[in-house]
Amino acid sequence: MSAPRASSPPRAIESPAELRQRIAQARRDGKVIGLVPTMGALHEGHLSLVGAARRECGFVVATIFVNPMQFGPDEDFTRYPRTLDADLRLLAGRGADVVFAPATESMFRPGHATYVDVGGVANCWEGQYRPGHFRGVATIVLKLFNFVQPDRAYFGRKDYQQSLVVRRMVEDLDLPIHVEVCPTVREADGLALSSRNRYLSADERRRALAISKSLRLAKQLVERGTRDAATIITRMQGMLAAADLNIDYIALVEPESLDSVAVLDRPTVAAIAARVGKTRLIDNELIG
Ligand code: PAF
Repeated sequence: MSAPRASSPPRAIESPAELRQRIAQARRDGKVIGLVPTMGALHEGHLSLVGAARRECGFVVATIFVNPMQFGPDEDFTRYPRTLDADLRLLAGRGADVVFAPATESMFRPGHATYVDVGGVANCWEGQYRPGHFRGVATIVLKLFNFVQPDRAYFGRKDYQQSLVVRRMVEDLDLPIHVEVCPTVREADGLALSSRNRYLSADERRRALAISKSLRLAKQLVERGTRDAATIITRMQGMLAAADLNIDYIALVEPESLDSVAVLDRPTVAAIAARVGKTRLIDNELIG
């Protein structure tokens, strides 16, 4: 399925009409269409999604759009890194056939008043700490799905709850799209790659490691026989507090429903959101 790799940076398409034309042609050519939605500030995590799409699809669309609708009023929308030229250079030779980088005005036209509200798995964690976040995510993802009409769409496991929210939406709205959730990519020392890591000072970067370390600790505790969720959470809290992180949540939950687990006698997802200075980071691991 793999197409020839270009080594010069791909051109960003801004116009939805041009995007539609390119996709219509790919479809006429009988190609499977893959979509990798991103907000730019790309790193190897995003590129691994493009790589997965390249392996499985005949035509790969990467999108770059910093979606204002998924940021709260006190969040980092205005300072979120916008690095289009560097993103396009990173994408060179990585397998995207098209990069769609629309202007805000072509995604949200005046009078926009339609939103997608996913319930259930969207209500806890990020849904609680970032009210409106998943409404923004689901609305833009559905719009991107409508623009691209992909056969397959690729999301990172680091945003675990987001991947469940998207899967819920796809199922509930009968969208004929396969959602693929790809493994988290980490630095050698364990820090999960995130566009927001670039906000961290050297000291914050060092302290942020407590997040992946405490997920590893949870895994080790389970491997050594601890089953009580409260005990595990207390140990994780201790590790994060020792690194001077402000914890939004630590959760041990059932992987599909996100219901809390009291006794870890089954596969469980451990998830954390914590602030290192002003930077809020999330991470998760399947344990048990
Ligand atoms: O994960 C992200 O980067 C964003 O939430 C997404 C899926 C591109 C929607 O804006």
